[in-house]
Amino acid sequence: MADEVIVEVHDGIQVIRINRPDKKNALKRDMYDRMAAALIAGDASDDVAAHVFLGVNGVFTAGNDISDFANQGGAPRGNNHRDDKQRDDKHGAPGFIRLLPMVSKPMIAAVDGLAVGIGTTMLFHCDLVFASAGASLRTPFVDLGLVPEAGSSMLAPMRMGQQRAFELLCLGEPFDGQRAYEAGLVNRVVASEELEATAMKAAARLAMKPPGALAASRRLMRGDPAALLAQIENETEIFAERLASDEAKEAFSAFLEKRKPDFSQFRRQT
Ligand code: COA
Repeated sequence: MADEVIVEVHDGIQVIRINRPDKKNALKRDMYDRMAAALIAGDASDDVAAHVFLGVNGVFTAGNDISDFANQGGAPRGNNHRDDKQRDDKHGAPGFIRLLPMVSKPMIAAVDGLAVGIGTTMLFHCDLVFASAGASLRTPFVDLGLVPEAGSSMLAPMRMGQQRAFELLCLGEPFDGQRAYEAGLVNRVVASEELEATAMKAAARLAMKPPGALAASRRLMRGDPAALLAQIENETEIFAERLASDEAKEAFSAFLEKRKPDFSQFRRQT
């Protein structure tokens, strides 16, 4: 089976390519672990100046694998609850998300087609984002009975204002490349055929710069990550509760059974 995350280093650039085209690049636990390991190794390597995230076949990612969500929500924790929690903190989506604010080298993303859920929220952590006009950034967290993650409940209102952030994160409205550019989440909209080359060119320019000055400038711009990390912890806790909610179970079952969810049964409970 082909690698579902392909990591390659060339000329000072680490490319992390999500490669699960039959499932629209939906991300499973081991794929997050592979991406996180690449970021950690790349940050520690003198051979890497920047990380570049790419998708495949006109798809960035359809977000977290819904079957994984369904399993996490229902999984009995038993007596090993604390061990499970410690493992979950460092691995899978929570581990990847906690790492994003701590990555020390520039992260660049080239977004073509779907960028769902974490496919959108991880972009708030990237330093440069290039998108095709046909990119479709969407975060159906509320539709899945969930809440925004990866610090997006803080970063999105800061970056694009409360109303646009609400439209993206709560209404679940898709933003195409142009709308994401206007909202300040994308640097430039480029033709699909030129997307990867544009991202690689920007990474190559960064790789030519004095690394100390680049790292210090990036640190100055990002500031203290404490507040962002605290928000991520808040989100993670509520997200875990929501995963086990009846609303989320209905949403996951509906997706896996290829039917529309019915939330009317929950109206009286809120
Ligand atoms: N998790 C698991 N499987 C997924 C997936 C996901 N997030 N997104 C897509 N897939 C699978 C589909 O189940 C389908 O599998 P199958 O061929 O075995 O039936 C395959 O990928 C192709 O997807 P399909 O739905 O047929 O493609 P589409 O172009 O009609 O729609 C999406 C694409 C992304 C709009 C739709 O698949 C979708 O809504 N996915 C869920 C996105 C999501 O909610 N992610 C979580 C965000 S927090």
